[in-house]
Amino acid sequence: SKKKIAVIVGSLRKDSYNRKLALDAIKMQPDTLDMEIVEIGQLAHYNEDLDHNPPAEWVEFRKKIKEADGYLFFTPEYNRSIPGVLKNAIDVGSRPYGQNNWGGKPGAIVSSSISALGGEAANHVLRQPMVFIDVYMMQQPEAYIGNTTTLFNENNEIANPETRKFLDNWLKAFEAWVHKFYND
Ligand code: FNR
Repeated sequence: SKKKIAVIVGSLRKDSYNRKLALDAIKMQPDTLDMEIVEIGQLAHYNEDLDHNPPAEWVEFRKKIKEADGYLFFTPEYNRSIPGVLKNAIDVGSRPYGQNNWGGKPGAIVSSSISALGGEAANHVLRQPMVFIDVYMMQQPEAYIGNTTTLFNENNEIANPETRKFLDNWLKAFEAWVHKFYND
């Protein structure tokens, strides 16, 4: 059956290239995936004290994370790491203590950058907490998308046919990865 994929974008910027990539990926989503962006910008900074009476945004986010069958991250690189807002969302979803909402699901990462390096450092930094919270991260193929300033046309679609084809193939690999963890 169709698997529900929570798409998480690591940039809050209105014109974010990562959001554009995520929206394009949703437009070209494989037949057996149901991909939807789950927003993270509204989440208060994680503080254990708040878990006695968690903010409504946390409760809603945790529910969406728990209900998803898999996770797809689109992240920029900030100072050779991931943006704090993304780490915050990971932490919020992993709690309250003993109630990790992420565990046991497949996941994958697309990193991107305005530089040619494609956010390689962020891509690998993100793997560390995801492995710890028990998400099965796809190792291959990897997705590092560089030179994002040159990638999109005026409709915010990936104009470069090679990049479009790359993302399309990569999404098919992700689809196959997700279904390895389900029998239906
Ligand atoms: C960056 N950028 C960046 N790029 C990169 O390749 N490696 C890095 O370490 C950093 N560091 C960094 C830190 C901070 C605080 C900012 C704001 C930016 C540049 C980054 O690739 C660029 O801003 C992207 O456009 C961010 O992605 P979105 O917002 O377009 O999705």
